[in-house]
Amino acid sequence: MNDWQKSNWRGKPRIQMPDYTDQAALNAVEGQLSNYPPLVFAGEARKLKSQLAAASRGEAFLLQGGDCAESFEQFSANGIRDTFKVMLQMAMVLTYGAKVPVVKVGRMAGQFAKPRSAPTETIDGVELPSYRGDIINELDFTSEARIPDPKKMLQAYTQAAATLNLLRAFSTGGYADVHQVHKWTLGFTEGENAAKYRDMANRISDTLDFMRAAGVDSDMAHTLQTVDFYTSHESLLLEYEEALTREDSTSGKWLAGSGHMIWIGDRTRQPDGAHVEFARGVLNPIGLKCGPTTTAEDLKVLMAKLNPENEAGRLTLIARFGAGQVADHLPRLIKAVEEEGANVLWTCDAMHGNTIKSATGYKTRPFQSVLTEVQEFFQIHRAEGTVPGGVHFEMTGQDVTECTGGVRAVTEEDLSARYHTACDPRLNASQSLELAFLVAEELSTLRQEKQAKAS
Ligand code: PEP
Ligand code: CO
Repeated sequence: MNDWQKSNWRGKPRIQMPDYTDQAALNAVEGQLSNYPPLVFAGEARKLKSQLAAASRGEAFLLQGGDCAESFEQFSANGIRDTFKVMLQMAMVLTYGAKVPVVKVGRMAGQFAKPRSAPTETIDGVELPSYRGDIINELDFTSEARIPDPKKMLQAYTQAAATLNLLRAFSTGGYADVHQVHKWTLGFTEGENAAKYRDMANRISDTLDFMRAAGVDSDMAHTLQTVDFYTSHESLLLEYEEALTREDSTSGKWLAGSGHMIWIGDRTRQPDGAHVEFARGVLNPIGLKCGPTTTAEDLKVLMAKLNPENEAGRLTLIARFGAGQVADHLPRLIKAVEEEGANVLWTCDAMHGNTIKSATGYKTRPFQSVLTEVQEFFQIHRAEGTVPGGVHFEMTGQDVTECTGGVRAVTEEDLSARYHTACDPRLNASQSLELAFLVAEELSTLRQEKQAKAS
């Protein structure tokens, strides 16, 4: 990787990035950010990589989730806490059902920049540049709000740092202690799944009591009382990413200091584009979104570029085809991976292929389509004999009404009640939990099949 430099992406075609008008202001912000401390450290990124490697072998499972877009306005301790709680609940359901460790990665502390399907947006005949996330411009539909402002990168950095600080405190300060398994429940999630969760939590508490009585829990105190929680975001705004890239003094390699894991979006995965050029040179685990237009040929080139040493845990392929379309695309991409003998972790983003416009005008996702895509993902990996190693969701701990369906059925008419997302519709806490139970069931079936085969 001797030829790589953190600014090389500037010589490649750039798309989905703003054209800042004030070059001096941009330079000043980049200069400032490049003097700030990185948000994450190389050792953490390496540890995550080894856990993702385990997931790629079926010895762990990746749970990646959080906001579509983090927002400056909705930034609060309670918001972070509640998303963290739901992720812990989901992880507990998965660990319990699948009997493997769950690797927890938030779409948090940096998930600010958004690719858009069109460069402009027209409302009532007025055309303005699209909103591109709070790190770039503002959601308000005025020409002033839509001007990209480089100073927003500094606010995003500050918010990311504060978010990560709280996540680190929650992860190790007692909040994530497995003995608290009952306390992660959110008040409004009553219903069938809440009861199911309570049941499971009772069984876990029982086991913990037994372990204490038998004297086996003291050696494991640290494991039971803390969790590893990692951050991730789409590496889209490359000025921000470059400014936070640092040389790792122990290995001499480069670290994207903006988050533990970064991913390349479905719209910016051109093998010769700026985003691939940036990601290929950093040591972090990299995600690559694979949508219906991903060709086997491109995937092979991308795997070679992004993971030339075929390191396990380095590359996560995030399949996002949409319910009913997985069988059309996943087998041909699995074949490409197998032909190359490439080490990858396969995960399923069951959100981005399932976005529709509701009759009431809201962008939504039918919860049933999300469930269906997950089931199809498992079914195909089972048929191919490959490992379904994780799931990727847009979700929140807030009691929102953004995706339709679920046991506490959200209807198209309900969407307006609590539709708060700055970008794509997210699963609420109740839908997230329901989904975790379904994934746990899939994983436990797989495990039983494996055991039956082995005996
Ligand atoms: C996203 O994850 O928010 C996103 C835009 O996804 P994709 O690149 O898969 O469309
Ligand atoms: Co999204």
